[in-house]
Amino acid sequence: MKHLERATAELEPIETASVDEIRALQLERLRWSLQHAYDNSPFYKQRFDEKGVHPSDLKQLSDLSLFPFTTKEDLRNTYPFGMFATPREELVRVHASSGTTGKPIIVGYTANDIDVWATVMARSIRAAGGRPGDILHNAYGYGLFTGGLGAHYGGEKLGCTVVPISGGMTARQVMLMQDFSPSIIMVTPSYMLSILDEFKKQGLDPRASSLRVGIFGAEPWTNAMRQEIEEAFDMDAVDIYGLSEIIGPGVANECVETKDGLHVWEDHFLPEIIDPETGETLPDGELGELVFTTLTKEGLPMVRYRTRDLSRLLPGTARTMRRMEKVTGRSDDMIILRGVNVFPTQIEEQILKCDALAPHFQIELRRAGRMDEMIVHVECQADHSSDDARNAAARELRNHIRNTVGINCHIEICLPESIERSEGKAKRIVDNRH
Ligand code: DLL
Repeated sequence: MKHLERATAELEPIETASVDEIRALQLERLRWSLQHAYDNSPFYKQRFDEKGVHPSDLKQLSDLSLFPFTTKEDLRNTYPFGMFATPREELVRVHASSGTTGKPIIVGYTANDIDVWATVMARSIRAAGGRPGDILHNAYGYGLFTGGLGAHYGGEKLGCTVVPISGGMTARQVMLMQDFSPSIIMVTPSYMLSILDEFKKQGLDPRASSLRVGIFGAEPWTNAMRQEIEEAFDMDAVDIYGLSEIIGPGVANECVETKDGLHVWEDHFLPEIIDPETGETLPDGELGELVFTTLTKEGLPMVRYRTRDLSRLLPGTARTMRRMEKVTGRSDDMIILRGVNVFPTQIEEQILKCDALAPHFQIELRRAGRMDEMIVHVECQADHSSDDARNAAARELRNHIRNTVGINCHIEICLPESIERSEGKAKRIVDNRH
């Protein structure tokens, strides 16, 4: 690994505060946030009233469970500006998250919200090993997606030189990386693989690149993928999590020194884990659906927002704030195949065990009679493209999946570059069951 050369930029005091101090701050901020939502957003007033709860019912943090959840559906039903808690004129920016169908959901930020976001993003980049003065190649998409501008403002706030390249035009990305020598890259893990392919295509050694740290998120990825990327580029690969509804990227981030899950920036976002079936709050350590409540957001406060992401909460390590385990997947992306729950990340893990295979894959679902079937389309490595090599790789992958995930599926090994590449979030599931 190439090591950090710069002096450690200082942490914010709250990053090393005691758990008690953090809880006290959360309680004070949570009171404010619930009151703000109730007083200024007719949506929340109605919801709280319907449930018979009032912000003054919050005496301790655990009382949050008395309050109603919010969902993506609520944002859809109030599209575009119906949930906001400040007059529209006070918003300095909106972003959107595109659903798979229909209208996107709209989120909005006051000037203070943008400042908080830049602060948590700067904190995230620092936790990942970024330092003032670093050149930061930002290949998250700019536009309505929160990735590009979120990383951009955080990079600037930390004092990095940000290259706002956005996604796409991969050959040019590699050229600029050769010319500018960035030490940090921020990009989705799947697009990083396309950048890797481009390095190879241009005859460049990715291990000799200037990159020291990659900050990867916006989609689920596995520790196996981390190893693959770290090995390929001789760099550290760190996970960043976030969602538009809560603020964008920068809700939680891994620390490069531990890489043991993502520290939630709990002074701004209060996490809970619930049982997705019953809505019951689960104790730390248990796997369930992540729920967030914003503690400082003005424009669009979110109370108990159900993310649909599955994770668990763990105690702090490199920071005192709690960690969330790497997200295994979204409940929306869970495939139920003959009674077995399968996530695309489980398939990714098995693919990365096979030397003959490249990490580019897509899962197709088809209906055969009354049964669903799953076909994993995955590319072979260029030097394993003979029929024999591909048949052997298909057998190997099928066995790995049967032995670990517990399902039988079809494997289609295709030639390099035949699977659709993403410039942002990869599309892992193609549902042809209708
Ligand atoms: O993806 C924000 C973001 C941008 C995060 C850049 C990280 C880096 P949305 O488009 O609203 O926002 O999508 C949010 O993406 O609920 C998760 O399902 C998924 N997701 C985001 N980060 C991770 C991650 C951005 N590190 C949705 N691991 C979330 C797994 C992630 N899934």
